[in-house]
Order: sequence, then structure tokens, then C-alpha cells
Amino acid sequence: MSKDIVLTGIKPTGKVHLGNYIGAIKPALQIAGASDCTSLYFMADYHGLNFIQNRDEFSDLSYSIAATWLALGLDPDRVIFYRQSDVPEIFELSWILACLTSKGLMNRAHAYKAIQDQNEQLGVDADTGVNMGLFTYPILMAADILLFQSDKVPVGKDQIQHVEIARDIAESFNRVYGDTFKLPDYIVDESTAVIPGLDGRKMSKSYNNTIPLFETAENLKKLISKIKTDSTLPQEPKDPETSNIFLLYKEFATPAQVQELRDKYLSGISWGEAKQELFQVVNAALEEPRKKYYDLIAAPEQIDTILSEGARKARALAGPLLKKVKSRIGRYS
Ligand code: TRP
Repeated sequence: MSKDIVLTGIKPTGKVHLGNYIGAIKPALQIAGASDCTSLYFMADYHGLNFIQNRDEFSDLSYSIAATWLALGLDPDRVIFYRQSDVPEIFELSWILACLTSKGLMNRAHAYKAIQDQNEQLGVDADTGVNMGLFTYPILMAADILLFQSDKVPVGKDQIQHVEIARDIAESFNRVYGDTFKLPDYIVDESTAVIPGLDGRKMSKSYNNTIPLFETAENLKKLISKIKTDSTLPQEPKDPETSNIFLLYKEFATPAQVQELRDKYLSGISWGEAKQELFQVVNAALEEPRKKYYDLIAAPEQIDTILSEGARKARALAGPLLKKVKSRIGRYS
């Protein structure tokens, strides 16, 4: 039996924070590290072009996200890691798929509908701020997925519908031209807890409560000291399970360390001391990746080399299927 193909896209976004790392990057790296599959991870830079239309920002964010994944352990010898825009086959397939996709299917996509609803509430035209890249975003995503005959697509919950749309589009094509594309399944990691931010709400850029991943040790310490706590006195026993500090600690510490801190909570630990313990495990875990990240950012040509090698491998995989698709539609070469 051939190995499963696992594929996921990484959108260039702002500074990566602890919540992104624990909730998305760590589980995705675990899946990629599994030896029984072929993994393709790519930077979805042309998806990002919908939102980022400042050239420096576009370039910086792309390098930053690539460096982040490499620094955290994505191994380009085991995982095909590439930049979407280096693989022109994706965009050719995207057009072909667009011709087999009903506009109604796009109208029903959550992300597009959310903007329409928002515009309606604001009393402006329903399509204000909607470009065609955003409207057809799911078609490009379907091309990303289908071009590699992906079996599994690890995504966050908000992307499930997009994988379902990719299946729908694959089915439409297969119905018209005969069995061509595999139907992909999504993988959603249900186990990760909601990661609390500095104010206790979910850690999110939009709440301005994040702890960025690659801060200096000093800044990391300062940020951790700002985590909101209650007014229990230092020597009073504390419930580890309701403590955000403890929740974050569990993500970085060994089981023995977790047990030790749990005991300290139960016998009474000051919040200051708990924060100090948290800082130590987080800093220890991130020290090396942080250094690797800054080394990579300082040498973008290294990132380019890795990504072009990945693109070469990806194109070698994609070529034969695109050729088959083209002959199926009657475009013989
Ligand atoms: N849309 C995804 C996100 O916002 C990124 C993405 C683009 C993707 N193409 C993909 C994810 C293909 C999985 C497969 O996170």
C-alpha cells in the first residue's frame, strides 16, 4: 500500500505566539514527523495576498513564517516544504477547477458570508472589501490539496468547510471526466485546550493579549509577569486546574515537573513564584528555536534554498497529475 499523503498550508500571518504554537504548530509538526506518510507543508503566500498588499510586509511575513516552522523543527529532509507561488501547476489547476465550480458553492463559504453579514450590519454594499481572490479562496485551496492527491489535511476548525469544498470540487470533476482526484479528509486536533492569553481570554492577536514566541528572554519574563491572577495570598493553597499559569506550564514541562508544581500549588505558592517557574520552562524550550529563528531571518538565502528545493520536489509530484487532468479535459499535448 502506498503511504498516505498529508498536506497542509500555512498562511503568512503576524507574529506567531504561544497560542499558535501550542494549538496549531506543535500538533502539525507531530503529524509531519510520523514516518508512515509523505508530508507536504507549504506557505500559502498567494492566499495571503488577499489581505497583505504591502510589499515589504508580504515579503517579511513569508520569511518570518518559514523561519518559524524551520526553527521549531520542521525537517525539510522529511517534509516537502515549499512556497505556494513557486509551484505554477497549482494556479493552472485552480483555473480548471474554477470552471467546474458553481458560483453558489462559493456564495455559501463561511468566510465570504461573514464579510457579507458584517457589511449588511454596517449598511454598506454587501461586497465592500471583497476581492475576487477572497471570493475564490476555496478554489485555490482545493487546487493546493487536490494537485497532490492528498489523503489527509490537518487544519484548524475554521478550515473544515474549505476541505469539504475541495471534496465537492473533486467530485464535480470526477463526475464529468471520470475518476481523477482523490477525495481528501481533514484532520482536526480536538485535544488541545484553549490557550489563555495574558488577560485570561483566549490568546489571540485581536485581543492584544499574546505572548509572542520569539521574544527575548527578558521580554518573555516581563510578559509572563503580566498574566492576570486572583488575589489569593501567597501562602494559601491554589487550584492548579483553574490556573492559567499552570495550564501553560503543562504544555512545556515534563510530567515530573508538572507533578512538582501541582504539589506546590496545593501546599501554597505565590503567584510570583509560579510565574517564575513558568518562565523557566518556556524559556528553556524556546531558547534554541529562538536562536535558530534569528539566524535564519538573518540569512534569508538559506530559507530560499530550502524552499526552492521543496518546490522542485513538489513540482515533480504535481506534474504527472496535471498532465493527466489536461488530457482528461481534452487538452492533449
Ligand atoms: N486556508 C488555510 C488557513 O487559513 C491555509 C491553507 C491554504 C491551507 N491552502 C491550504 C490549509 C491547503 C490546508 C490545505 O489556515
